[in-house]
Amino acid sequence: MRTLVFPDRAGAVAAAASAVVAQLRQQPESVLGLATGGTMEALYEALIGAYRRGEVSFCGARSFNLDEYIGLSPEHPQSYAHYMQRRFFQHVDFPADATYLPDGASSEPEAAAGAYEADILRLGPIDLQLLGLGRNGHIGFNEPSSSLASRTRATRLTPSTLTANSRFFARGESQPSHAITMGIATILSAREILLLATGAEKAEAVAQLVEGPVSAFWPCTALQMHRDVTVILDEPAARDLRMVDHYRRDDGIGQADPVSIGVAQTGA
Ligand code: F6R
Repeated sequence: MRTLVFPDRAGAVAAAASAVVAQLRQQPESVLGLATGGTMEALYEALIGAYRRGEVSFCGARSFNLDEYIGLSPEHPQSYAHYMQRRFFQHVDFPADATYLPDGASSEPEAAAGAYEADILRLGPIDLQLLGLGRNGHIGFNEPSSSLASRTRATRLTPSTLTANSRFFARGESQPSHAITMGIATILSAREILLLATGAEKAEAVAQLVEGPVSAFWPCTALQMHRDVTVILDEPAARDLRMVDHYRRDDGIGQADPVSIGVAQTGA
């Protein structure tokens, strides 16, 4: 796991956006795994800016979102499908038929989840998976105690997540309690993973993610089992890391996987 700490949120967001741009330049037909939530809003703004400046195109790419609320149609303003259209897709050149989200409006959510997992297996693997981080350590909507081997499925949100996300709903508006989410094993099957977390309210989950023991109680810790994860943080989110000085000194060579280090050394 490579952990990068930036002085502020803007620096962290810019670094995450650069990684996405670099991925698409290197492989225009990338399959991207996308996330929603407050943290991602600034990242999508940065990517829209890069697109408008001609630095990146999404015309050859495909995307799979992590999750969707059950019971909301794609037209519902609080659905993640609507969020993605409003905050990202309608501003860039993603082909309309190349962006996938779970079907939260299905009357058979488990079947819809299975179909989504099958789509990922058929059209994937995901080359670069973007993740935010829940305060309780969730990734996607894999809440504490989710199986680390889980695949895409219907799940119930915890009170902690419902409270955290209530800020997106108007007073009196009904808030879905269930979602379809990629599972933890689904997420881990991406080739590369980039997690962005900013703000002090994420500090405890970040400390578990980077330095805690692997545990289903902190689902994000499953990322320790993946060989190509980059965690991008601002200083407040990194506040509780015991080795924060070490991460601040990252020089970009420490996290290549053992095989490529071996190859590089042999060739030198
Ligand atoms: C959203 C998602 C969630 C969020 C997480 C953080 O698609 O999968 O895991 O990334 O809840 O949300 P924010 O950024 O709003 O704190």
